[in-house]
Amino acid sequence: MDQRKEILNDGVWAALERNNVSRRDFLRFCSVMTGALALPTKYTQKIVTALEQTRRPALVWLEFQDCAGNSESALRSSHPTFADIVLDLLSWNYHETVMAASGQWAEKSLRDTLTQEKGQYIAVVEGSIPLAANGTYCTIGGRTAIDIAKEVCSNAYATIAAGTCASFGGIPAAAGGVTGAVSIGTAVPGLRLINLSACPMNGANLAATLVHWLTFKELPATDSLNRPLFAHGDRIHDDCPRRAHYDAGQFVQEWGDDGHKDGWCLYKMGCKGPATNYNCPRIQWNDGTNWPIGVGHGCVGCAQPGFWDTMTPFYSTLPTVNGFGVELSAEQIGLTLVGTVAGLSAVHAIGTGVKRSIEKRRGGINEHDQAATPDHLPVTTGQVSGNDSAVTTPTESEENGAMKEAPQVAQPRELPTQEGPTT
Ligand code: SF4
Ligand code: F3S
Repeated sequence: MDQRKEILNDGVWAALERNNVSRRDFLRFCSVMTGALALPTKYTQKIVTALEQTRRPALVWLEFQDCAGNSESALRSSHPTFADIVLDLLSWNYHETVMAASGQWAEKSLRDTLTQEKGQYIAVVEGSIPLAANGTYCTIGGRTAIDIAKEVCSNAYATIAAGTCASFGGIPAAAGGVTGAVSIGTAVPGLRLINLSACPMNGANLAATLVHWLTFKELPATDSLNRPLFAHGDRIHDDCPRRAHYDAGQFVQEWGDDGHKDGWCLYKMGCKGPATNYNCPRIQWNDGTNWPIGVGHGCVGCAQPGFWDTMTPFYSTLPTVNGFGVELSAEQIGLTLVGTVAGLSAVHAIGTGVKRSIEKRRGGINEHDQAATPDHLPVTTGQVSGNDSAVTTPTESEENGAMKEAPQVAQPRELPTQEGPTT
């Protein structure tokens, strides 16, 4: 067997060993993936075994109308080993932006994969696909994006849409666009499809999706938008560390005010967390360093379909967006709390409750981090969520806990009365 074939037939661990990744880093990665998939920690060993033994599948990555932000998200990491492992999960046979080969040699690699790995490789699509003017707004090597996508994705085992442009059309499909941009799911109907939306998608979610497939031999459960439930099953608003301030009616009123400095809720600064389903609060960015709300900026809803049209202006509350309509209640609670003597007592009580709630939330995260993951990537405990599509959960679903329906239309939680915050 020549060396290239030998490498292709390797399991992930063998490939990592060849690239001098330590066993310790490999185990840490598997632990992080268990957390990202919201699986109980006992599944870490199952993931380790699967990655050791499973042959690495081939991957073809297509870039169409995009900014390459999802490639950056998948490949850049402040923790180099993490990026190395993601690269070694699959055999990256074709990626126009990063592959060493170019021209006819790059095309040969694509053709070889399509014929030799037919029905077995994973296709990743980044960017939207233009359909106007017969697709000529995006051509590569003389072929239109739609032509390439049809051939590559139709012959893949599954297609992963990386980012909101590939998942829902994104910015190229926003109002005023002229290219007739659509998602890969619209351009090529009938695919086995996972939409990893967000702008960009979180690279850890791509890794977790691949790890799920390699471990359980099936793709993760999804919502009706084909987004994996482990990443999109919960609203940002419900996992947000500022949530206690929202419940207490404590809102940042302008950038840099005392509330902003104290980490109060960003709802009145336009935060779209109540209408956005994503695991940002848990998995965060840059290897778990931080995330938009963590650094004091509201969520702009980048994981939602049509966010560029439906979530703008980004710095205004939008009563017409699903999940909103609580602005008046929030105003009333804030005024009531600070306007009366009884309110002042309540403020003190709520303040204490807020503090306890925040400490409780922080404590909960820290406990789990210590138990299961390296401290650079916090995770949540939880269950594999339910499914309303053809894609299924791991077979040990009964061990994973109760199935859960993903909220299709995000709704804000009821605001509490003056008696105290919801914790
Ligand atoms: Fe967090 Fe935004 Fe919800 Fe406030 S509105 S609790 S900042 S997600
Ligand atoms: Fe996007 Fe909101 Fe997360 S803007 S990156 S979904 S906090």
